[in-house]
Amino acid sequence: MKKQIIMNGFNIEFKDWRPKDQKLRESLCTLGNGYFATRGAAEELENTAVNYPGTYLAGGYNRAKTKIADREIENEAFVNFPNWLYLNFKIEGGEWLNLDEVKILEYTQTLKMQDGLLERRFKIVDGQGRKTSLRSLRMVSMKDKHIAAIKWFFTPENWSGKIVIKSALDGKVTNDNVERYRDLEITHIEPLYNKKIYSDSILLVVQTKQSKIKVAEAARTRVYYNDVVLDTKVKTEEEKDYISQEMHFEVTEGEHYELEKIVSFYTNKDLAITEPALEACKDIKRSGRFSELLERHKQSWERLWLRADIGVIGEKKIQELTRFHIFHILQSVSLNTIGLDVGVPSRGLHGEGYRGHIFWDELFIFPFLNLRFPEITRSLLMYRYYRLDEARFAAKKAGFKGAMFPWQSGSNGREESQVLHLNPDSGNWIADETHLQRHVNSAIVYNIWNYYQATLDRQFLSFFGAEIALDIACFWASKAFYNKEKDRYEIHGVVGPDEYHTSYPDSDQLGLNNNAYTNVLTAWVFQKVLDIVDVIGKSRKRELLKELEIDEEMIALWKDMSNKMYVPFLEDGIISQFEGYNSLKEFPWEEYEKKYENIHRLDRVLEKEGDTPNNYKASKQADVLMLFYLFSKDELNYIFEKLGYEFNEEMIYKNIDYYKDRTSHGSTLSRLVFSWILSKHDRKTSWNNFRSLLISDFEDIQGGTTTEGIHLGAMAGSLDLIQRSFAGIETGEEALWITPNMPKNIEKITMRIKYRNHWILIALNKQDLKVSFEEGWSNKVNIGVIDELYEFKNGEEKEFHLDEL
Ligand code: BGC
Repeated sequence: MKKQIIMNGFNIEFKDWRPKDQKLRESLCTLGNGYFATRGAAEELENTAVNYPGTYLAGGYNRAKTKIADREIENEAFVNFPNWLYLNFKIEGGEWLNLDEVKILEYTQTLKMQDGLLERRFKIVDGQGRKTSLRSLRMVSMKDKHIAAIKWFFTPENWSGKIVIKSALDGKVTNDNVERYRDLEITHIEPLYNKKIYSDSILLVVQTKQSKIKVAEAARTRVYYNDVVLDTKVKTEEEKDYISQEMHFEVTEGEHYELEKIVSFYTNKDLAITEPALEACKDIKRSGRFSELLERHKQSWERLWLRADIGVIGEKKIQELTRFHIFHILQSVSLNTIGLDVGVPSRGLHGEGYRGHIFWDELFIFPFLNLRFPEITRSLLMYRYYRLDEARFAAKKAGFKGAMFPWQSGSNGREESQVLHLNPDSGNWIADETHLQRHVNSAIVYNIWNYYQATLDRQFLSFFGAEIALDIACFWASKAFYNKEKDRYEIHGVVGPDEYHTSYPDSDQLGLNNNAYTNVLTAWVFQKVLDIVDVIGKSRKRELLKELEIDEEMIALWKDMSNKMYVPFLEDGIISQFEGYNSLKEFPWEEYEKKYENIHRLDRVLEKEGDTPNNYKASKQADVLMLFYLFSKDELNYIFEKLGYEFNEEMIYKNIDYYKDRTSHGSTLSRLVFSWILSKHDRKTSWNNFRSLLISDFEDIQGGTTTEGIHLGAMAGSLDLIQRSFAGIETGEEALWITPNMPKNIEKITMRIKYRNHWILIALNKQDLKVSFEEGWSNKVNIGVIDELYEFKNGEEKEFHLDEL
């Protein structure tokens, strides 16, 4: 059988037009620039059973109410904006092109990651034997963030005659990407107006219904023959929410025609604009030809790759998949994101899954960005800062102090977790009880601290980071309570990372008590804020404490809490996922594996049977084990010692063994965590998890979820594994540490990282490590290799033979 997908360096080639794979390919071939993105749908098709042309704006949300199961619920959706892609042709008297209706002689779709391009090449023959070949190039400009463009190379192979080209801006779109959400309100935009702006250009202006985001799209379409604009007969058609131009002209057999559609996209949320429609028209007027735009776009990508590329030589496809992950991260958040009021949606700007919401996934995404584009992390952390007041309100409303950030965050930072969700297996609408994942607050502090460690950006820490962190500490201090009997602090009524456990069996009360992950992280937060107030200096500390009404008594309380958070244990050093976990039933894994093809989403399987995972020792994803993912052995030693609990390396392995048999990996994040925690202990399983992670979107291993958007946490996490686990790079307080731990399936790793504004090149194979200090803020930098510290001077390079160290 012919190979369907060919990967080569920076290119991924998808062979043949395969309607059933089209929606997956669309997600995988999405093009974006961190400001907006468009799925890799076919430009000649509208929304059909095999084609979904979604366009998303970073931070483009809209709320809408729906009546479901006798309740009115409100959801905030990630809006699908007008489709700018539409471009089609027909031979006069014939039909508009639809690949499902013609004979296809050749078809290839190539994602060209080096230059950020999507190329489609095909040769078709119609019912009258007329052969046409078409090559289409598409970009969403990384340089000019408001610009996207399509270029067609069109050749009538064996015919001459009249043709019509149609270029449209289609505002009839709805939010229709996720089947499960279809019963909810899916109309989020309303048309404002549209018009022809020049003989070859059109404009469409729409607005989101509730959030009133005004979006203007303008498109200029020109046909060129021998590099000269062809005089075509243009007919503009306008409907309320749709505008198109048809261009009529004659073509000659064997000649080549070029067609360029240049689109600009503006919203009233943009900085430095007067009004979106005016800006969109201005761009279209000023815009040069496709080739000029392409050059600028390519150069931007070249600069991005220089910072971001990771060379991995080893098992087949690893290099390409690594680049594929880097590519999609940079399309979701890029230098264009800096300054926008947005966070990182867990499913990228690639689809409507999870409604573009921001969860704790940043925890897995920032490590890659911190060491290459810390400016981006800083901007994304500001998203939380701007929502501090909303988080303060949420804390107050729930009866707590400080700031309580939501589990799912969208436009203004209120809790956006869905109230009801549909179980597609049973067709039932069920209450979503996962919003009690308060651990997201600690993840925010963790992200702030790790950004600071990678950059030493004291400005950020003292003015913004510290304020967030201190208010989160205040929240935890009021949420936790003292249990005199235990002489410990406890946290009740929360949900841990494992979303399958939201309450005790037969209890009508939501939440669990003393989720170990939450409690340990809380102890860490208290320790860290005490460090943070030291780092920011006396005067800023004074200011902040006063502003946030934190007195010495509160600080003393944090100290006490950092030493006395309660951590439940089972027997023999096994940390209990939460208090009472032991009384749950063991889950009959084998029976269910036999009964169902896929039990990743055990929650859905059990709900259909009238049961719930709350009854069993069965987790969706790593929970306790997250501790071993986030912290090194030494850090854990320190945390547990301070807490007065015994901790040793053996316990780590015991816990892994215990929970690995009780996890269904219902989230791609779980594979990531398991790959990391097993990387020293069980290399084979670790590698298998890493491989699953690498292909999780590419092969859509969860069966359908990738069509709703990529999994950015898993993608970025796979890169973090290469960096933090295989290359062993860690940003310590006094130095950057490199402790290689190369798996046998990888021969060589190369990367360039930015540590505290020093650019460092790392090249590693099984025997040797080469570290070069390219340049930096100061002319020396400390780098630790295994357990020896070295001072590198500007431009200096050192080689290490690993087996001699
Ligand atoms: C996972 C969460 C994650 C969310 C968004 C869920 O399936 O359980 O941990 O934050 O997806 O990626």
